[in-house]
Amino acid sequence: MATAEQVISDEAQYCADTFNGAIASAAISAAWEIGLLDELERAGRVGTAEFARASGADENVVRALLVALSTRRIVTLDADRTEATTAAGFADVYRSKGFFYWLTRGCGELLTTLPAKMTLAGREAESVRRDSRAISVACRNIARSFFDPPFRELLEGLDLTTVADLGCGSSDRLIMLADLLPHTRGIGIDVAAGAINVSKEAIADAGMEDRISVVQDDVLNLAPREEYAGVDLVTCFLMGHDFWPRENAVTMLRRLRETFPNAKNLIIGDTCRSTGVEGPEHPMFTLGFETVHTVMDQYLPTLDEWSSVLEESGWRIADRRVIDLPAFSFIYRLTPA
Ligand SMILES: C[S@@+](CC[C@H](N)C(=O)[O-])C[C@H]1O[C@@H](n2cnc3c(N)ncnc32)[C@H](O)[C@@H]1O
Repeated sequence: MATAEQVISDEAQYCADTFNGAIASAAISAAWEIGLLDELERAGRVGTAEFARASGADENVVRALLVALSTRRIVTLDADRTEATTAAGFADVYRSKGFFYWLTRGCGELLTTLPAKMTLAGREAESVRRDSRAISVACRNIARSFFDPPFRELLEGLDLTTVADLGCGSSDRLIMLADLLPHTRGIGIDVAAGAINVSKEAIADAGMEDRISVVQDDVLNLAPREEYAGVDLVTCFLMGHDFWPRENAVTMLRRLRETFPNAKNLIIGDTCRSTGVEGPEHPMFTLGFETVHTVMDQYLPTLDEWSSVLEESGWRIADRRVIDLPAFSFIYRLTPA
């Protein structure tokens, strides 16, 4: 029911929810980037005028973001729309903000140019662009919330000196490890200039330039380097699907044994293609992850396909964790077979 005069059907409300959800997704990303979400998390409330003054944002736009958030029960606005307080949906959105940022900031251009990408010719004519800086910021947040806690469990008891992180994004994992284990060194490898820039800034901010280096390189075609010989742990989070299709994944995993000949462990964490999910039951992230990778012509393996490829990979599973959010996600700790 929209107003006293206007009664809308359930179907029309689904439609309105779809539209409002798109605006709210963009508003979540913007609110995070300008510090509005963090302020709501810290104080439980925000005044539009005081936030606008402190952040330099336009008060009307701050209010517009808050109205968008209120449509999804993330905040509640007072009657004159000058103050917002966190509402029932806030905690989940705050925890999941990286997914929204990935979608709207990282993949925004891909989605707005979708009609031109419907055919192979269209995709070839115009490359499919994502914002690699925003993707690495989003993934840092997703990994911290959902992958790092089980990852730390899998590290227990391992004796580490040098870690190479493939598709390192922001290098957050290497910084976390260097912080946790003061004698370790890190090498981050990523193909995207935006990710390398975010990495370099984060490593400098952490004062770890003497312990963590970054290399801009294609993980799928790594040339041997002297420093790789000292690596005893290889990690790879949220990019393992780039190893696929299947025959490439087998070759790639086997080649890692040669590139990092002294690696005693390979820890891979990734999200897989869903199975058995229909229509409105799609969980958080799955639909965006699968749509975007389809447009990018990137094959996404299922969890079963990952398990089956490992049998031929030159590695064996020593330990594993299954992750519920993002759904259909896993972390494997592999050791040389
Ligand atoms: C989804 S992000 C994950 C970033 C990071 N691993 C994390 O957990 O936050 C995937 C990263 O892999 C990088 N990547 C994708 N394909 C790559 C390749 N062939 N070689 C090196 N890096 C690659 C991307 O540039 C991006 O930074």
